[in-house]
Amino acid sequence: MERTLVLLKPDAVQRDLIGEIITRLERKGLKITGLKMMRLSDELLNEHYSHLVGRSFFPEVKSFMQLTPVVALCLEGVEAVDTVRALCGITKAREAAPGTIRGEFAMSVQANLIHCSDSLETAKAEVPRFFKAEELFEYKDILETYVY
Ligand code: PPS
Repeated sequence: MERTLVLLKPDAVQRDLIGEIITRLERKGLKITGLKMMRLSDELLNEHYSHLVGRSFFPEVKSFMQLTPVVALCLEGVEAVDTVRALCGITKAREAAPGTIRGEFAMSVQANLIHCSDSLETAKAEVPRFFKAEELFEYKDILETYVY
């Protein structure tokens, strides 16, 4: 089992696509183990996008991510990192494959609706960056118990 981080970006929140996107992730079979709405601080964004410091678009990335609260999710599943990436489509949304979340709903590189961890190593750093241990949940599939 892997855990991966997803952020529903301000364009997803503004366009009322939270439900649509979460539905797609759940319907695929990924388990939500953490879920919350949050405003992203300068400090958190500097850390999260530290690999982009020095890039011309870094200030815009930060200001964009602070336009509205975002929705943070921790998703769990077999090969969850790559599975979520495949469901999202590539960063440049207008070239993302039809059927993917970005391919269906977005045109921009920045306003591309969703951030997802790009590797298992990244996910292992990103999940605890956004979720405290007590905000993540493990739970049994109750339908396995209540079979009558
Ligand atoms: S890169 O370019 O491969 O080093 O960057 P990447 O790790 O894919 O992350 C890029 C994130 O920055 C946002 N962004 C842009 N990327 C590329 N070019 C431009 N002009 C740009 N503007 C913003 C992009 O949405 C990625 O955000 P995340 O949250 O990682 O999806």
